[in-house]
Amino acid sequence: MLVLVICGSFILSVTCHGGHQHSLYLPEISENKAKSFLHNRHIRSLDPHPDYCTYLRYESWCEWHIPYCQGQQEFTREHRCATLSTPCSPGQHCVLTTPCPAHFRHNCVDKNECDSNPCQNGGTCHNGNNQYTCTCLPGWTGTNCEIDIDECASTPCMYGNDCIQDRINSYICVCSERFEGVHCERDCRPGPADVMFLIDTSFSQKEAINQSVDFMTEFVKQIPIGPNDFQVSLVSFSLHPKTIFNFTTFQSNSSLLNALSLIESESGPTKTSDALQYASQKILNPANGARLLSNISHYVILVTNGLSTDRNQAIHTAQILRNTNPHFKIYAVGIGEDIAHEELVQLPTDASLSFSPDNNDLLLAMLKDAADYGCTDCNSTSLTDVIILFDTSEDSSPLKGSSLHSLKFVDKLVDSFDMAHTDIKVAMLTFSSDSQIKFNFSHISDQDMKAKIFTTTIDNRQRNTSIRVGLLKMEEFFTSPSSGGRPEARKICYLFTNGKWPTSENSELKHKIEELNAAGISVNVMVTVDDTDSYSDTDMSLTNAKEIAFDPYRVYIVEENNDYVIIQAAARETRYVKCPSDIFKSKH
Ligand SMILES: *[C@@H]1O[C@H](CO)[C@@H](O)[C@H](O)[C@H]1NC(C)=O
Ligand SMILES: *[C@@H]1O[C@H](CO)[C@@H](O)[C@H](O)[C@H]1NC(C)=O
Ligand SMILES: *[C@@H]1O[C@H](CO)[C@@H](O)[C@H](O)[C@H]1NC(C)=O
Ligand SMILES: *[C@@H]1O[C@H](CO)[C@@H](O)[C@H](O)[C@H]1NC(C)=O
Ligand SMILES: *[C@@H]1O[C@H](CO)[C@@H](O)[C@H](O)[C@H]1NC(C)=O
Ligand SMILES: *[C@@H]1O[C@H](CO)[C@@H](O)[C@H](O)[C@H]1NC(C)=O
Ligand SMILES: *[C@@H]1O[C@H](CO)[C@@H](O)[C@H](O)[C@H]1NC(C)=O
Repeated sequence: MLVLVICGSFILSVTCHGGHQHSLYLPEISENKAKSFLHNRHIRSLDPHPDYCTYLRYESWCEWHIPYCQGQQEFTREHRCATLSTPCSPGQHCVLTTPCPAHFRHNCVDKNECDSNPCQNGGTCHNGNNQYTCTCLPGWTGTNCEIDIDECASTPCMYGNDCIQDRINSYICVCSERFEGVHCERDCRPGPADVMFLIDTSFSQKEAINQSVDFMTEFVKQIPIGPNDFQVSLVSFSLHPKTIFNFTTFQSNSSLLNALSLIESESGPTKTSDALQYASQKILNPANGARLLSNISHYVILVTNGLSTDRNQAIHTAQILRNTNPHFKIYAVGIGEDIAHEELVQLPTDASLSFSPDNNDLLLAMLKDAADYGCTDCNSTSLTDVIILFDTSEDSSPLKGSSLHSLKFVDKLVDSFDMAHTDIKVAMLTFSSDSQIKFNFSHISDQDMKAKIFTTTIDNRQRNTSIRVGLLKMEEFFTSPSSGGRPEARKICYLFTNGKWPTSENSELKHKIEELNAAGISVNVMVTVDDTDSYSDTDMSLTNAKEIAFDPYRVYIVEENNDYVIIQAAARETRYVKCPSDIFKSKH
């Protein structure tokens, strides 16, 4: 019987004995049998009488499992390919196109170089003509992506900071103490900077020399001195400026501290304009050891009472100097028996750089300025609780005589706090023999606040004043948890009075204000001076105020027409800089 088997493009004719009928759909043989059949090239020579029906079954199984057969007959492929009359060209390889036992066929096809998975570490292989290319995952390189790229090789961490390759395709900069940023790009250690103290030693300052020295000493103790750090020079002035020491004289903190007391009182006028000119020439002069690099700031710290003989010229000169060189900055400190705030806010680079000597505000503002922009060690803040403490007593209320002027001042002062955009909170208390809360720290509308301010009146029922009553009430209000004050906020009190209380109260009041100061509440005495006051009246008011104030800097004169500068000066302390105490020490 004849059976036609269609296999690929071949037609096989096979006659089987035993009467078996064979169709195209022969029963499958087991995988193992087919494998051994395909592997055994001698199958026919071993069996001189092959059973063609068995053979057919093998063939049929193979036809149905071509991919499998192709994979299993490397031996046959090698054998057949070795007999090629024309070997495959480079870039091609010999394959069996038809692997069935009855009609092995081979052919030359383009080789897929990617078959051997040459690309490592997740790289993608691209087959080319007799070659391949690998596209590597980020972080790898080399023909086969076998090389781990050293991301630190390009020294991405600035200022020589350490680079660590923490993972594939990644690195970490380990910033040493003074640097911040992903690449340690911000130098956050304040400095280097050249700092010149410019000290008013004129006649009017003869009692203030020691306080100036104390101020400088406190300042210098907190900064590192050296050729790569802060350099300090000292110039005093009265009629003429003179250099006590220049930037190169001292290279260490301890030797410098002793030399600060070398300033001496003089008997001349206060020629601040000349002194500022001199300062600018000396501080920007390498002959004095100044370092004229763009990354080094130059600070002139002007210590004065603000009573310049040449005030207008001084303000003009200061303006020209700071406009000419942005690296030359003037800061002012008010030290003296009487402080003229109106001058002190106009001499520095801006009004916010006028400082009291009683705290570290100037130093901290300078340290922030002397570090890179964007460093977060030192932050500006306005977290401040303010109490307006208004005297309404018959005798010493500012409302007596000067009508509403002092209330207008309070209103403008409160406006200047810009509470919608700052962290400042304000409360207002009035006092005569007793005290009253006008408004507390909880927010009320500007309109309501204004209304409450302007409805303040003299308390006619009480003929006697007691500033002490007011101070005690204010202290209680600050410390009471129910007033809405914030424990972490700076606490400032503005005491509005005309200063005409009995002088006999002064020592007790002074003591109380010192106590408040030690408890973190600074009291500014806002003395309202009335046009109708005689010179001796005014003098008594100021004398009283100065006698009770913690420092002469804390006395402000409120009169018509000086509101703007006095408000700038008085409100300055509501905005300040905070730095960690170990700003110069290691952060890690
Ligand atoms: C300033 O200090 C010196 C030395 O400590 C002292 O002798 C002098 O009396 C002080 N002067 C004033 C005005 O306090
Ligand atoms: C400066 O000197 C003072 C006193 O000698 C010392 O207490 C302080 O730690 C020094 N400051 C610095 C920054 O070196
Ligand atoms: C700066 O001070 C040093 C040491 O006191 C001194 O030798 C030098 O002459 C001074 N420089 C100038 C320009 O005065
Ligand atoms: C300041 O700049 C100079 C030159 O431009 C540079 O050599 C120096 O390292 C810089 N100093 C700091 C602290 O960045
Ligand atoms: C006011 O003070 C005077 C003297 O200080 C005193 O005699 C008088 O009793 C006081 N009056 C009131 C209402 O407290
Ligand atoms: C603060 O004042 C508001 C209204 O002015 C009032 O509702 C609130 O009770 C006051 N808070 C305290 C603690 O007195
Ligand atoms: C300044 O702000 C940064 C970021 O908010 C904070 O990490 C840091 O502690 C602050 N510094 C001070 C002195 O409050």
